[in-house]
Amino acid sequence: MGVKSIFSIIFLLGTISFQGFAEPVEDKQALLDFLNNINHSRTLNWNEYSSVCNTWTGVTCSGDHSRVIALHLPGIGFRGEIPPNTLGQLSAVQILSLRSNAITSPFPSDFSKLENLTALYLQYNKFSGPLPIDFSVWKNLTIINLSNNGFNGSIPSSISKLTHLAALDLANNSLSGEIPDLNTSSLQHINLSNNLLNGTLPQSLRRFPNWAFSGNNISTENAIPPVFPPNNPPLRKSKKLSEPALLGIILGGSVVGFVLFALLMIVCYSKRDRETGFIVKSQKGEGSVKKTVSGSHDGSNRLVFFEGCSFAFDLEDLLRASAEVLGKGTFGTTYKAALEDATTLVVKRLKEVSLVRRDFEQQMQIVGQIRHENVAPLRAYYYSKDEKLMVYDFYGQGSVSSILHGRRGDGRVSLDWETRLRIALGAARGIAHIHTENGGKLVHGNIKASNIFLNSRRYGCVSDLGLGTLMTPTPMPMTRAAGYRAPEVTDTRKASQASDVYSFGVLLLELLTGKSPIHNTGGDEVIHLVRWVNSVVREEWTAEVFDVELLRYPNIEEEMVEMLQIGMNCVVKMPEQRPKMAEVVKMMESIQQVNTGNRPSSETKSEVSSSTPTPPAAAEMGSSSAQQ
Ligand SMILES: *[C@@H]1O[C@H](CO)[C@@H](O)[C@H](O)[C@H]1NC(C)=O
Ligand SMILES: *[C@@H]1O[C@H](CO)[C@@H](O)[C@H](O)[C@H]1NC(C)=O
Ligand SMILES: *[C@@H]1O[C@H](CO)[C@@H](O)[C@H](O)[C@H]1NC(C)=O
Ligand SMILES: *[C@@H]1O[C@H](CO)[C@@H](O)[C@H](O)[C@H]1NC(C)=O
Ligand SMILES: *[C@@H]1O[C@H](CO)[C@@H](O)[C@H](O)[C@H]1NC(C)=O
Ligand SMILES: *[C@@H]1O[C@H](CO)[C@@H](O)[C@H](O)[C@H]1NC(C)=O
Ligand SMILES: *[C@@H]1O[C@H](CO)[C@@H](O)[C@H](O)[C@H]1NC(C)=O
Ligand SMILES: *[C@@H]1O[C@H](CO)[C@@H](O)[C@H](O)[C@H]1NC(C)=O
Ligand SMILES: *[C@@H]1O[C@H](CO)[C@@H](O)[C@H](O)[C@H]1NC(C)=O
Ligand SMILES: *[C@@H]1O[C@H](CO)[C@@H](O)[C@H](O)[C@H]1NC(C)=O
Repeated sequence: MGVKSIFSIIFLLGTISFQGFAEPVEDKQALLDFLNNINHSRTLNWNEYSSVCNTWTGVTCSGDHSRVIALHLPGIGFRGEIPPNTLGQLSAVQILSLRSNAITSPFPSDFSKLENLTALYLQYNKFSGPLPIDFSVWKNLTIINLSNNGFNGSIPSSISKLTHLAALDLANNSLSGEIPDLNTSSLQHINLSNNLLNGTLPQSLRRFPNWAFSGNNISTENAIPPVFPPNNPPLRKSKKLSEPALLGIILGGSVVGFVLFALLMIVCYSKRDRETGFIVKSQKGEGSVKKTVSGSHDGSNRLVFFEGCSFAFDLEDLLRASAEVLGKGTFGTTYKAALEDATTLVVKRLKEVSLVRRDFEQQMQIVGQIRHENVAPLRAYYYSKDEKLMVYDFYGQGSVSSILHGRRGDGRVSLDWETRLRIALGAARGIAHIHTENGGKLVHGNIKASNIFLNSRRYGCVSDLGLGTLMTPTPMPMTRAAGYRAPEVTDTRKASQASDVYSFGVLLLELLTGKSPIHNTGGDEVIHLVRWVNSVVREEWTAEVFDVELLRYPNIEEEMVEMLQIGMNCVVKMPEQRPKMAEVVKMMESIQQVNTGNRPSSETKSEVSSSTPTPPAAAEMGSSSAQQ
């Protein structure tokens, strides 16, 4: 291990332990007041003399230990009312979970001071009385779960002012009256079932399935079940597109089917009155060769191939292909298409492209010219008024997301450290290369594990780049992709090279921890990986951050710690403080050298560690992995 890397570990440990001294004194007092004035059946290790931020169960502090920012106290057996002037004093708190207790309060009025609240989990308690009238005080509130309580009265219309609201669960309460028009486009999930609501369902909520309102006396007449998931805007109801909508209803749920076939048939037939067919154009560098399959008036509908494309297919072959839905993402739906000649392709159907043809084609030219070992090549694209398709190679092993998270447990081959390093290094090189394209301005914009594949040398290879600028700016959805999004990126168009670095950092943390960027902890709270890693690393430096599957490989602790350091550098909040992608590659390659050069065997390793001071991190990890 090089002197530099020892230094960086010591440095990392140093910054962690020096943070331990600060203490949010007022928040601590508020928490003690809360605990001392409410009955509870489980004991908590909270006391005046221990450090709130480092030891108290369920409490998470900000990075500088100045405030408490999250409180998770599910199932502690709290009974009775929340004492006033306690939790309401934690004004910096962002996540508050008191779920699964037996709290009988009305909704605490001093919660209105928690202005940074993003998630509120009070489900499974005995709260009663009305909901707060003014929800607009919680500007950043994203998730509200008040289900399974005894709240009554009506649903406040001020909820519609929550512009970030993604989930609203008020199910199984005693709420009455009519449902207000909750006009928040960010809403992804709603459950108002089992209440005493009446009246008709407002137009803005008709995109949600009927079960969300069941167990009430709500008239849902005229309500159409959603054809596409709520985050996809419904297709325009022009005559031409009613067919895809219909087919969407019929085929929407089926995984294997002739979806693509149907889709392209529609493209074909809906145009037939104006055009007689398609042009397949094959481009070879400058002198592009046009091959006309059949006549066309304006040459607008064509499958455009890029140089180096070894496929011999045209739109008609695609029409005959059987297709399988691989996934739905921020930018559209991806299908696996098996052609009759046994070629398999990936076809991406883009949604919400806002660019005119010329700009779209220009962007496709930039993306399509990229040839790099760690970038999945774009093979062809298709543009018409109603459909935009992109054609890629198919990677049989699936995405890094499916390799890493798929089928854990029974018989699954775990992803070893070498492979994870190669995935990370490959992806980093691919992204760094992308950042040199288009005069050094190209942005990937959608880096996530499900867009990284393994190339033939089993190094990471990035796909799906440069789509952000094609799209209508849409607020980023609350899907798994949200976990990769840099804090400054508020819509798909705001992506930058610095936000790519952030997303890559999340990917790196995902490879190290084996955890999804947004995951559940068994309960129903959503944990953001970046926050979680920060809090674990800050609180107690243990092997807890790393994927248990990695702990069984010997002699990789230093490498893991260094990778973690790089990952954490990439996910710092301020974009200008993040390293450039090329620097990230260099840092990772220096670890690779240690790694491939002469990785010490078990024996030489112990000699090395006896002659150098053993970093506490490695020592602790060694002991805890031995325990497992
Ligand atoms: C705790 O429970 C006991 C017995 O049920 C009751 O007498 C007491 O008032 C409760 N304390 C608080 C703070 O609610
Ligand atoms: C809310 O969060 C912002 C940004 O993190 C911070 O500047 C502000 O002080 C917080 N508000 C309170 C009341 O802590
Ligand atoms: C809440 O939102 C405001 C602006 O919308 C932002 O400045 C602030 O940082 C956010 N607070 C947190 C904790 O995210
Ligand atoms: C609804 O709440 C009541 C108590 O408040 C509980 O007994 C019942 O099981 C809940 N129903 C569902 C479907 O969760
Ligand atoms: C709500 O419940 C309380 C008792 O828990 C009752 O006094 C009040 O009248 C109820 N309000 C409505 C609007 O039903
Ligand atoms: C709210 O909590 C209930 C019960 O824990 C859970 O089933 C439901 O999925 C949660 N809703 C949301 C939107 O997270
Ligand atoms: C909606 O809430 C009801 C009542 O708690 C519950 O039975 C149902 O499973 C919920 N639906 C979903 C999809 O969470
Ligand atoms: C919903 O809000 C948008 C702006 O956020 C507004 O343009 C639209 O008219 C609203 N719709 C209704 C039904 O209030
Ligand atoms: C809905 O219920 C309330 C009482 O909860 C009643 O006053 C109102 O008339 C009802 N509205 C309709 C449309 O039935
Ligand atoms: C449901 O509401 C309608 C009016 O919206 C009313 O005529 C009917 O009696 C109500 N049914 C129940 C069971 O409350």
